[in-house]
Amino acid sequence: MAIDVILGLQWGDEGKGKIVDYLSEQYDLVCRFQGGPNAGHTIKIADKKYVLHTVPSGIFRPNVINIIGNGVVIDPGTLLKELAKLDEANIPYRDRLLIANKAHLILPTHRYLDAASEASKGKEKIGSTLKGIGPTYMDKTGRNGLRIGDIYSSDFASKYKALKEKHIQMLKLYPPIDFDLETAEKEWFAALEEVKKLKNIDGEYYINKAIKAGKKILAEGAQGSMLDIDFGTYPFVTSSNTVTSGVCNGLGVAPQTIGEVIGITKAYCTRVGGGPFPTELHDETGALLGKHGMEFGATTGRPRRCGWIDIPQLKYTIMINGVTQICLTKLDVLNFFDTVNVVTEYIIDGVSSDEIPYDMCMDGITLKHKEFAGWGHTLDTVKDIDTLPKNAADFVSFLENLLEVKISMVSIGPERDQLLLKD
Ligand code: GDP
Ligand code: IMO
Ligand code: MG
Repeated sequence: MAIDVILGLQWGDEGKGKIVDYLSEQYDLVCRFQGGPNAGHTIKIADKKYVLHTVPSGIFRPNVINIIGNGVVIDPGTLLKELAKLDEANIPYRDRLLIANKAHLILPTHRYLDAASEASKGKEKIGSTLKGIGPTYMDKTGRNGLRIGDIYSSDFASKYKALKEKHIQMLKLYPPIDFDLETAEKEWFAALEEVKKLKNIDGEYYINKAIKAGKKILAEGAQGSMLDIDFGTYPFVTSSNTVTSGVCNGLGVAPQTIGEVIGITKAYCTRVGGGPFPTELHDETGALLGKHGMEFGATTGRPRRCGWIDIPQLKYTIMINGVTQICLTKLDVLNFFDTVNVVTEYIIDGVSSDEIPYDMCMDGITLKHKEFAGWGHTLDTVKDIDTLPKNAADFVSFLENLLEVKISMVSIGPERDQLLLKD
């Protein structure tokens, strides 16, 4: 049985959590394969709203096993807070939440290094979520990191101390920042004791055995493809591979096990943090997208930058990911507009192209738009893709034709059932 993948095609926050929660009913396993608590995946079920950072979004389906894969970086404190929220809501997870031994740990000092590095960059800062993601992946690739499997060993405390002391030396290279390591450390070790009570697994064996046994597996991406460490808008990216190939490294599975790749895109575009965003709107329209889309970061609460949907950008991420179907989210946010736009091409030095340039910050990019008349009313009563108002249907089929991938799902609100499926 293949592993299906859900991932973001833009700069994150495309609505992955909602779609994973919806689809996970059809799966046996849901696995996060990269990122960490920089992610904020929102799930609305009836009158309750949950935001998951580390826990996979299949947790609300009682028969689904949820795996935090080896490619994820874990902050024990954040994980514990998420689990407390699940406890409060009486969502059982103890037997259904498994952590890969090879997942790396975020130390308190990783967060301080993140903060110090960002502060030292001034205006050039990435706009990191300050969760310690970059420094933790740096220690992973630098072969200094601590992993979940290490917490059971007798020399864990000394390994921790050695890494912490190295970080303290590194912090001296930056302008000073405030921190209270003693308190943070106590909390971190207390949280680790709780993490020890969860089931840890050799993720690669567990998942490959599940594949052999014919289990249905869904891999849940975090961030978005334009934040990928290799293919995103570097250096304004995160520190992991957010694209389909990240599933193989982040779970320990072979490329030929990948099945459907479901790419999620909003009907417009957002970005939170710094970095290029060619279709960004700095005007009233951008502000209205933010207002109607309630575009505030699920992890940091920061306002998200908003703009029109960008075809060259999406074609690029569809290519990198091998997307086999698209889920278009937040179409309902466009209900409020008299006209809606699609950016169809970039014009650079007078030449039109549907490819994005190496340097998306470069001067002189102009954009070619296609304008659509709005549909001017709510989509609340629409139960079927085929009964979308004509102008909305035209907008969706225009995107589908240009992107050359089937739009198999259209989301028209944050609730579980506000999703239109195409046969
Ligand atoms: P993720 O990080 O990709 O899981 O997305 P976030 O949870 O950070 O942000 C998506 C936001 O949009 C959340 O507040 C969702 O509840 C909300 N949302 C998801 N799908 C829709 C939709 O189709 N329409 C509207 N209006 N909101 C949606
Ligand atoms: P989900 O999974 C949107 C952005 C940050 C910053 C850059 C680097 O909810 O879609 P980092 O903390 O990783 O060092 O930040 O990446 N970023 C996200 N933006 N959604 C996310 O996750 C993000 N995770 C990180 O804002 O610009
Ligand atoms: Mg999010």
